[in-house]
Amino acid sequence: MEEHISIAVDGPAGAGKSTVARAVAKRLGLLYVDTGAMYRTVAWLAVRFGVKATDENGLVRLLDEYPVEFRRDATEGTLAVFFQGRDITPELRSPDVSAIVSPLSVHPRVRERLTSIQRDLRKNTGVVMDGRDIGTVVMPDADVKVFLTASLNERARRRAEEFALKGHTVEESEIRDSMAERDERDSSRDIAPLRPAMDAHILDSTGKSIDEVVAQILNWVRECAK
Ligand code: DC
Repeated sequence: MEEHISIAVDGPAGAGKSTVARAVAKRLGLLYVDTGAMYRTVAWLAVRFGVKATDENGLVRLLDEYPVEFRRDATEGTLAVFFQGRDITPELRSPDVSAIVSPLSVHPRVRERLTSIQRDLRKNTGVVMDGRDIGTVVMPDADVKVFLTASLNERARRRAEEFALKGHTVEESEIRDSMAERDERDSSRDIAPLRPAMDAHILDSTGKSIDEVVAQILNWVRECAK
């Protein structure tokens, strides 16, 4: 197998991308890059410094003025986000960040900045990268591209379960509505919309276990290495 193999995993919210991508990375000893966390980092900065999601110049300025660091955790093979020496990764999934991340990710200059960081990250290492535009824009030359989907109902059910595990009760119908809205926005934007690359394997995870999905991706990786 190629030493610096690259695997792109794209798909809508709640399809299980991060769980699956992380597991594939671990199995193959590759770096796992969660690009959603990078868009969430911009949203986190915007919340903290009171910049609106519509203010493209203000958002780019935040990235210039407050450099955030994506640090590799050597044991986990994942990236943690550091701001002024503090690990802010757990805060990136908060409701106020989630509320503005999709509207903010439409801006071309924000995308340019983050795309360039993502491309740099794969320079010296094999990666599994997940997001919305990885197979189409960030790594169009990826060795294996997967577009991971699941029915909206299943995705909302899984997210509600995740919240419940963390001790939060959120109505499944509420999650379903906000997911549908986010998918629609992510899919219909002009720049780097959510869509499968021409050469992506489409994988519907509805009714499948994480292990089954991971095994299928590992098979595709093996096939491409032949
Ligand atoms: O994967 P996630 O839910 O953490 O992503 C949060 C938002 O970030 C998502 O609604 C759209 C945006 N995003 C993007 O536009 N491009 C990516 N490659 C990753 C995420």
